[in-house]
Amino acid sequence: MLPLSPAEIRMMFGRLRDTMGIIVLSRRDICCCFVLPLILLWSPLEAQTRYTIPEELRAGSVVGNIAKDLVLDVSAAADRRLRIASGSGKQYFSVSAEKGELVVNEQMDRESLCGQRVPCVLPLEAVVENPLQLHRVEVEIQDINDNAPGFNSRERTLNVPESITPGAKFLLDSAEDPDVGSNSLQSYSLDRNKHFVLNVKTQDGIKIPELVLDKPLDREKQAVHKLILTAVDGGNPVRSGTCEITVVVLDNNDNAPQFEKSFYEAAVDENQLVGNDVMKVSAVDLDEGPNGEVEYFFADKTSDALKSVFEINPKTGVISVKGLLDYEQANLHKFDVLARDRGNPQMEGHCSVKISVNDMNDNDPDIVITSLSSPVPENASVNTVIALISARDVDSGQNGRVNLTLAPGSPFKLSPSLSNHYSLVTNGPLDREAFPEYQLTLNAIDSGSPPRTSQNTLKITVSDVNDNPPVFSQRSYTVYTQENAALGSILCSVSAHDPDLGHNAKITYSLLDSRVQDVPISSYVYINSENGSIFSMSSFDYEKMKVLKVQVQARDQGSPSLSSNATVHVFIVDQNDNAPAVIYPSAALGSVSHQRMPRSAKAGHLVTKVTAVDADSGHNAWISYRLAEATDASLFGVSFHTGEVRTKRSVSEQDDSSQRLLIEIRDNGEPAQSSTVTVEVLIEDGFHEPVSESRQKSPELNKRSGRITLYLIVALASVSSLCLMTFFILLVKCARGSRGGSSCCIRRSDSGYKTPNRNLQIQLNTDGPIKYVEVLGGDVMSQSQSFGSYLSPMSEFSDFTLVKPSSTTDFTDTLNVLDASLPDSTWTFECQQVSVC
Ligand SMILES: *[C@@H]1O[C@H](CO)[C@@H](O)[C@H](O)[C@H]1NC(C)=O
Ligand SMILES: *[C@@H]1O[C@H](CO)[C@@H](O)[C@H](O)[C@H]1NC(C)=O
Repeated sequence: MLPLSPAEIRMMFGRLRDTMGIIVLSRRDICCCFVLPLILLWSPLEAQTRYTIPEELRAGSVVGNIAKDLVLDVSAAADRRLRIASGSGKQYFSVSAEKGELVVNEQMDRESLCGQRVPCVLPLEAVVENPLQLHRVEVEIQDINDNAPGFNSRERTLNVPESITPGAKFLLDSAEDPDVGSNSLQSYSLDRNKHFVLNVKTQDGIKIPELVLDKPLDREKQAVHKLILTAVDGGNPVRSGTCEITVVVLDNNDNAPQFEKSFYEAAVDENQLVGNDVMKVSAVDLDEGPNGEVEYFFADKTSDALKSVFEINPKTGVISVKGLLDYEQANLHKFDVLARDRGNPQMEGHCSVKISVNDMNDNDPDIVITSLSSPVPENASVNTVIALISARDVDSGQNGRVNLTLAPGSPFKLSPSLSNHYSLVTNGPLDREAFPEYQLTLNAIDSGSPPRTSQNTLKITVSDVNDNPPVFSQRSYTVYTQENAALGSILCSVSAHDPDLGHNAKITYSLLDSRVQDVPISSYVYINSENGSIFSMSSFDYEKMKVLKVQVQARDQGSPSLSSNATVHVFIVDQNDNAPAVIYPSAALGSVSHQRMPRSAKAGHLVTKVTAVDADSGHNAWISYRLAEATDASLFGVSFHTGEVRTKRSVSEQDDSSQRLLIEIRDNGEPAQSSTVTVEVLIEDGFHEPVSESRQKSPELNKRSGRITLYLIVALASVSSLCLMTFFILLVKCARGSRGGSSCCIRRSDSGYKTPNRNLQIQLNTDGPIKYVEVLGGDVMSQSQSFGSYLSPMSEFSDFTLVKPSSTTDFTDTLNVLDASLPDSTWTFECQQVSVC
């Protein structure tokens, strides 16, 4: 306001009275501008001019003709310098000098000038000079909808837990619209969504929007909701403002971990290395953060055994091998796995897992000997069951199918019974003596690939059965013993062997009962039952017995016992224990034999013939004669061999008529034995040969000679029959011998006639009827192995000098004995003067 002098004020009032009742109305502008002089009418002194304009007029816009309205001449107005006086503030209006119009000086914003004040009136003072007058002018600025409702912040974020219940309210910022009246904020709206609705409440005249949860939230379905809140005013056109509301749904641990499958299945080979992966389980938790972090565990009820075999990685869910996977212990593992999140409270999900274990051929077959009956008696029949064997393999299927075999080469076989069960049976005869023990090798092989094998040995002992009789070391024994040997001397030892065992092999020796010369054999010999030594019980006399046949028996102690026999031929070897015995001339011991001879006898006259026999044999029986003493040794001579006493020369007259001869008869033994005979020779004149006379004339003599003849016939017949028997034996021998292809009859000899060192020679020297039979056995050079008999050194008068009965009756026996004792010998039989046979 300009400072007005009191004169100016008085002038102004004066003018105001002058213009009373005049309405100044300016219609020059687009807006309705009214000058209301009516007011002035009421108060002529304070009459005011009032204009109404909309806000936001551009500069230069005419508000009204103020000069006119103030009833001023336009020219006068210019002269009087009509102007708008303004206070300290902005000069929004000015007066154009030419036309006196009130012009907008600067664009005005109602909201900044008046805010929410209504009406918004700007008071102006128009000043004119000469005289100075002051006019009050008001300009009312009307609102236009030039502002949209606006939010303080265009974005708003709400964190809402997903568990919140419907009905929950969230206060939102209200929007502001500086316009007034209907141009101001009228309403809010929310874009279409599923979960929220809008509620607007009025508080102190201000509309406040609220977000109300209508339906429950699920973060897992939608974690973030974007909403647009729109504020609308009532202007024309309508203006609006928006705010973007972001609702972040906060996670709640409302989801349990969920396995992809409720049931997992896997197969794994047994004997996997520790640490190998088997399978993987996997669970998903829709929650986020720790609520969605899943860890895997074995279910609580899982056995420790399973936990020792498998382990599970809590982070990854990989199940791996932890311990030994053995199909044979467990071929199927079933367990539960749980997944647990880390929310609060924790939530769990479960699944079941089945892991089957595949069998591998990891077990050797096993050979089990269920029962074994050993030892086996050697007489066990074929198919006797000896052992029950089973072959096992803990693997399954082909890996557990076992084939059991027995190494060949034994009298046993396996016969299969039940599956994988076998019985070991005998397959042939057993012989403990040959094989007392068997080591059987059993091989088991399974059908796996590659197959596995195992071995077992079975020791089977064979027990003894008394199936072998004792066997003598020789079928027959030949023993030579000197006659007159000491009583109780050991003759020989027989021995038998029994391959059996124990009692079955324990041998006792005994003599088989027999009689020799009517005396039991036990009187002759004794056998040590323990060791088979045979002792003499008597001293033998060769002259009584040449050979002793002893049957011995060896018997084992088995049950039943077995025995075998052997023959021992005890050959009694001659000793020169007999002196030659003078048979002729017979003379009582110590007496003298008297012989007569004619004095006319010529040289060579047979005086007598000394005949002697020696009971010994061989050399011991070879007798020689010698004239030991003689009255006249020149007259008589004794034939060394024949014992014939002959005159050496013709007897002369001078010769003594009584001649005494001492003849020594000596055998060839060592030492030699001898005897003597004394012959008294009576030389008679005219003496004739007495022999024929006495034989012819003496009836007693005839009778005697007839008897001798009978004896001779008997002897001859017996010798002949002996011969025949001998031939018969020889024939048998021949028949036996010819089987071997040899062609001999009388003489069987492979080694030749010239070496009859082991032969049987029978000599029948018969330059009488029979003189001498000699049987040679063995080495012909050894006289100890020969024996012979003089049958009859024939002489016309020697009637009783015949064969010793033993020599002839035992003749065939003797041959047999010899044949038996010389089984492999070649032997010759010589029969001199075959005509006898
Ligand atoms: C057998 O036993 C007897 C008596 O003990 C003994 O004299 C003999 O020498 C033994 N024979 C053998 C072959 O040992
Ligand atoms: C042995 O001899 C006896 C008597 O002669 C006889 O009974 C037995 O059978 C014989 N034993 C054998 C094995 O030959």
